[in-house]
Amino acid sequence: MARFEEGVAVLEDTPESVAFATGMAALSAVLLAVVATGKKHVVAVRPLYGGSDHLLASGVLGNDVTFTAPEGVHAALRPDTGLVILETPANPSLELVDIARVAAAADGVPLLVDNTFASPILQRPFRQGAAMVLHSATKFLGGHGDAMGGVVAAAPEWTTRLRQIRAVTGGILTPGRPTCSTAGWPRSPSGCAPSRPARRRSRLPWPNTGWSGGSSIRGCPSVIRRV
Ligand SMILES: Cc1ncc(COP(=O)(O)O)c(C=O)c1O
Repeated sequence: MARFEEGVAVLEDTPESVAFATGMAALSAVLLAVVATGKKHVVAVRPLYGGSDHLLASGVLGNDVTFTAPEGVHAALRPDTGLVILETPANPSLELVDIARVAAAADGVPLLVDNTFASPILQRPFRQGAAMVLHSATKFLGGHGDAMGGVVAAAPEWTTRLRQIRAVTGGILTPGRPTCSTAGWPRSPSGCAPSRPARRRSRLPWPNTGWSGGSSIRGCPSVIRRV
């Protein structure tokens, strides 16, 4: 799992990352961490993935939320706003949001970007002002559609608290899965062969991770069945 977390941090250009059982476990941990800061109001840019939207709207983790369009972010801020959240491209509408613009409008309030659909191959939100980058690793990070996982890439200011929350809530990535979650990564440290979707996407240059893994598929049984 450490290798998966290090790999995501390299890809997202963040100091660290924390792996979770699913994307929703990752988002839940972020909301608990935000509420724990004492600032429980979240400004959420719609559209968001339905599950994320529902979790925020329910307030079940102790948050308040104001949903808005990207242009409304600044006006929606309150003294107790602890997080701004956006997703680009959005699931399922594929609507796009200008990350740097929202980061500026957030005026110092931490911004979380759900980067599930673009993946770090297309955008690195941390470089554009995001404090946290979230993935449902169930999707493109995995590449094979055979792994469940979530991950939040960020600086220690957030990852330390997220690790504490993960430890006490149990939303941890299943041992053994990280190997296959990195299976879609060309020259990944897992040594697994790249998936077909990943190979198609690899027509674009991948960030240089410095890994020199081979093409062995050892340790990745579901990949063995498919290649
Ligand atoms: C953009 C996005 N974020 C988060 C999630 C939630 O991830 P998970 O299904 O791994 O809990 C999904 C799931 O479809 C998603 O599409």
